[in-house]
Amino acid sequence: MNKAVKQDSGGDLIADREFVRSYLDKIPQLQEPTAADNARYRELILDLLQQKNAAMVAHYYTDPELQALAEESGGCVADSLEMARFGTETSATTLAVCGVKFMGETAKILNPEKTVLMPTLEATCSLDIGCPIERFAPFCDKHPDHIVVVYANTSAAVKARADWVVTSAIAVDVVEHLLDQGKQVIWAPDKHLGRYIQRQLGAGDDILLWDGACIVHEEFKHKALEEMRHLYPDAAVLAHPESPLSVLEEADVVGSTTQIINAAISRPEKQFIVATDQGIFYKLQQQAPDKEFIMAPTSGEGATCRSCANCPWMGMNSLQNLYESLLAGNNQIHVDPALGKKAMIPLQRMLDFRNSGS
Ligand code: 13P
Ligand code: SF4
Repeated sequence: MNKAVKQDSGGDLIADREFVRSYLDKIPQLQEPTAADNARYRELILDLLQQKNAAMVAHYYTDPELQALAEESGGCVADSLEMARFGTETSATTLAVCGVKFMGETAKILNPEKTVLMPTLEATCSLDIGCPIERFAPFCDKHPDHIVVVYANTSAAVKARADWVVTSAIAVDVVEHLLDQGKQVIWAPDKHLGRYIQRQLGAGDDILLWDGACIVHEEFKHKALEEMRHLYPDAAVLAHPESPLSVLEEADVVGSTTQIINAAISRPEKQFIVATDQGIFYKLQQQAPDKEFIMAPTSGEGATCRSCANCPWMGMNSLQNLYESLLAGNNQIHVDPALGKKAMIPLQRMLDFRNSGS
């Protein structure tokens, strides 16, 4: 472990892993729909979106069918920062959020007057699971002199306990802004992104890390990536900062999903090794059709391939369950209004920071 990084999970990491795994075991296997089923669902969903003045807000990791429909219907396909922004700016009164639960909760907190529904309420995130408020609040209380900065991949309760919420697109900038003011920071829950921020800013004990991880990005392997680079010497490596620091050190670009896509469009290379969820390949190929994208390795020493670069929770979103929730108006996100009010403050701070271009 990087000696400069103080770590205090306030609990036992092994127990957390078992807990996360127990969630994975509960994920139902969806039946593969036929092309005719999908065509029918597309038609029905387009109709329902109109009838209900609803907009689709989809993440890049969801099924390409959902991403394509979000585009076709005038909704949004984006990283988690832009998903949050879009929800506040659209005139739609219902937001159909295709992604994982924290994205739906963020949309509801920022737009309490809107109906927010999701194809499933079971789609969670290992970072959210690994940072329960019952353990996080006492951890923060132990360090009252620290500013609490949490990643968007957290529950509404954890957001409400924070001073700032950030996404990967602006995490480094926000923490830099705070350190420049002489503040000390608690960063939670992703330790890999935390270590990356720390390295980028040359910060030592000023950043206290929570011990959480994304089960998808944590699987990328540094040694196998090095070997892959020899096979593709002209390729650039694009990595999401939830990957281990050893992988990020191999990368030419580290950024949020949108930043990865923008780099693929603007950089001169024709080949890219991509260390993030496979769902992003739909947008990469659409935006840079003349370029080749290769998945970064998840196999190699220590591999378990529990995810194989596929977020199991993002994969729970489908045309069928989106249609069902729009039709019945079910799977609505509810956030306690008092909690939502508190969580809105650090979220709004993030959007204002983004808009100010600080
Ligand atoms: P982005 O904000 O980069 O889209 O990341 C969200 C996420 O969950 C990545 O695993
Ligand atoms: Fe959470 Fe990782 Fe899935 Fe993103 S890819 S939603 S961080 S488990």
